[in-house]
Amino acid sequence: MRAALKSIGAYVPQKVMTNKDFESMVDTTDEWISKRTGIKERRIAAEDEMTSDMGVEAAKVAIHRAGLKINDIDMIVCATISPDYLCMPSTACVIASKLGRTNVTAFDISAACTGFIYALAVAKAFIESGMKNNVLIIGAEKLSAIVDYTDRTTCVLFGDGAGAAVVSATRKKSEAITDIHVSADGNYGDLLMTPGCGVKNPCSQKVIEEKLCTMKMKGNETFKIAVRTLTSDVVNILNDNEMSAEEIKHFIPHQANYRIIKAVGDALKLTEEQVVLTVGKYGNTSSASIPMAMNEIWESGRLQYGDTMLLDAFGGGLTWGSALLPFAGEPNTVK
Ligand code: ACO
Repeated sequence: MRAALKSIGAYVPQKVMTNKDFESMVDTTDEWISKRTGIKERRIAAEDEMTSDMGVEAAKVAIHRAGLKINDIDMIVCATISPDYLCMPSTACVIASKLGRTNVTAFDISAACTGFIYALAVAKAFIESGMKNNVLIIGAEKLSAIVDYTDRTTCVLFGDGAGAAVVSATRKKSEAITDIHVSADGNYGDLLMTPGCGVKNPCSQKVIEEKLCTMKMKGNETFKIAVRTLTSDVVNILNDNEMSAEEIKHFIPHQANYRIIKAVGDALKLTEEQVVLTVGKYGNTSSASIPMAMNEIWESGRLQYGDTMLLDAFGGGLTWGSALLPFAGEPNTVK
């Protein structure tokens, strides 16, 4: 038995926050943000809109587009670093409940921006082992809830949103996920972290005053490692599968920074048509960014059945990963 990605869906909150909006909040400019990151605007969830709510909306779209009903789904995996609750219940369990699905395997994955690729790897393994048939994978983030809006080095980067996909069992080799690489090096954990509210620094007055429950990032160091690691990772996965960069129809990288995406794309000599870019519209939505970007090209009619996709992500942990797969879903007929 093999695993195929059968559908994609996404949800973005209504509220748009532009670079200009930050100029009155912190010492920054639209020009700095645009030039250094490629970000123009990002979406911000409503106060009463949780990570699970966005995940549910994206999931409903993905299940519908896969031609399935919620009861056909036998496992739900949610990748997130902004779960509804710190420890329990998992956001996947909350999503399962909101979708009306009980008696289902459901759990979260914490791999920061690489979360969606980790979730894809887990779905593939469960399906290939014969344990599951239809796995719903979700990347959902309300990063606005864990951003320090007085820290200009991080607050301008992140946005909210969710993406979801259905991965199903197939016997067709042409539809199957070709390969996935997922990796981590915990020695660099301090480059990107939320230091507070875990067991090491439990919630306290100090944790609140020093905003230790928000994301802290050594951006420039992370940038250099990201470019190096992502480039070698995509080269390795292509070599391992005896494929060339020209055979990739859509390169769908994690949308953290236009300069990182360009550096990796240039190293592979990819054309502009091959590279999917949504960072300008949505900023960095961590685990949601790859499925949101995939959904954009599906909805615009660019992503067709059988197209070869190369996914690629890097994030806190540090974690990184890449995936080679054909799109095995129905084409978009709504233009
Ligand atoms: N506005 C104006 N100036 C700023 C801002 C801002 N918003 N932010 C930082 N600066 C300043 C800095 O203070 C610094 O000033 P100094 O020279 O006086 O000290 C200067 O700009 C340059 O700062 P750098 O950090 O060197 O800027 P850089 O070009 O590296 O861009 C950025 C910063 C955008 C964060 C980049 O390093 C980056 O994208 N890093 C990688 C992010 C990433 O991929 N993270 C992993 C995924 S995220 C996840 O897993 C949740």
